[in-house]
Amino acid sequence: MAEKKSEFPALKNDRLLRAARGESVDKVPVWAMRQAGRYLPEFREVRAQYDFFTMCRTPEVACQVTLQPLDRFPLDAAIIFSDILVVPQALGMEVQMKPGEGPVFPSPLSGPEDLDRLCNPKDVCAKLQYVYDAITLTRHKLDGRAPLIGFCGAPWTIMAYMIEGKGSKTMSNAKCWLYRHPEASHRLLKTITDATIAYLVGQVKAGAQLLQVFESHAEHLGPNLFQEFALPYLKRICDEVKDQVAALGLQDIPMTVFPKGGHFALRELGRLRYEVVGIDWTVDPILARQLVGPNKTLQGNLDPCALYADPIQIDSSVKEMVEKFGCERYIANLGHGMYPDMDPRHLAAFVEAVHTHSTK
Ligand code: CP3
Repeated sequence: MAEKKSEFPALKNDRLLRAARGESVDKVPVWAMRQAGRYLPEFREVRAQYDFFTMCRTPEVACQVTLQPLDRFPLDAAIIFSDILVVPQALGMEVQMKPGEGPVFPSPLSGPEDLDRLCNPKDVCAKLQYVYDAITLTRHKLDGRAPLIGFCGAPWTIMAYMIEGKGSKTMSNAKCWLYRHPEASHRLLKTITDATIAYLVGQVKAGAQLLQVFESHAEHLGPNLFQEFALPYLKRICDEVKDQVAALGLQDIPMTVFPKGGHFALRELGRLRYEVVGIDWTVDPILARQLVGPNKTLQGNLDPCALYADPIQIDSSVKEMVEKFGCERYIANLGHGMYPDMDPRHLAAFVEAVHTHSTK
């Protein structure tokens, strides 16, 4: 496996990895969550030809759309085109992507007895080979232009989808499990965690150079529920992925945890082995820095809707953001993903502003 990694083209831009490790950079690295997506006409053209999960399962197509934003903008990272919901799919649940509605599970988990429906997490990896193939192909096609990020959903976020079956304002069905069926909730979270650890190690073997764990539904858990139902699993994922990668003789790679809406968890997350903590736009960068401490890299956090402003305003918002974060131990990003109705030229303005306002 160690030989396989060195077969990849040499990296010509390592700003993202340097910033993640706390090394100095010539400019602050920048990328955008959902940078491969419907705001790009070339993405919509490909999307019109395939079902969403067919795109994920076809390495050539996943690679093609992963590279689209890099062909337009001088981004410092690519993120593999896939979805966090491929893990519950591999655990045996059906997921459909409905245009205009988002992901839908036709038969969500309705009670603890449904846990018997799930496959053994040990078998999940083989079913996700298509993601590994997409990663390996993309590493080659990237030709070292920027590092490739792999990712997964955090266990609570995946659990919430498996129970709610679709987006929810309150997550009350999933939270009902936490209060009414805590033991079954832990069993489910453990199954997801076991599958996720194996899945992420597989992504590293395939060529991922940084891993991001999306806790997109952190906001629904206050500090107490987060402590019991999210933090221990986020810790296990980071510890075991790093230990298994080392045991395989592979190079350690940085990991990012992004607790969307989880401002209350920043101090605790700063104590885990993740090198990078992502923050959404509701958190002040100076407060986030105090909470996670000096030895972590922060990622974020411009309000995605700031991209609706004109490029001159985007430039001044970015300048202020970069001043607050500082140029060390910082990866610039939005505070959440881009929306389909955004103007690609405004992402260009965002990227350019980060590089301009952070050049030494
Ligand atoms: O460019 C990238 O960011 C890489 C690809 C990526 C997708 N999903 C593609 C996608 C990534 C990193 C994800 C992660 C993901 N998926 C998360 C975590 C990040 C977050 O947004 O909090 C979540 C919660 C999901 C689940 C999911 N997938 C939702 C809620 C939706 C619907 C919302 C939407 O944007 O439509 C999706 C669909 C999805 N995933 C799309 C893309 C490009 C759009 C679907 C389409 O093209 O029809």
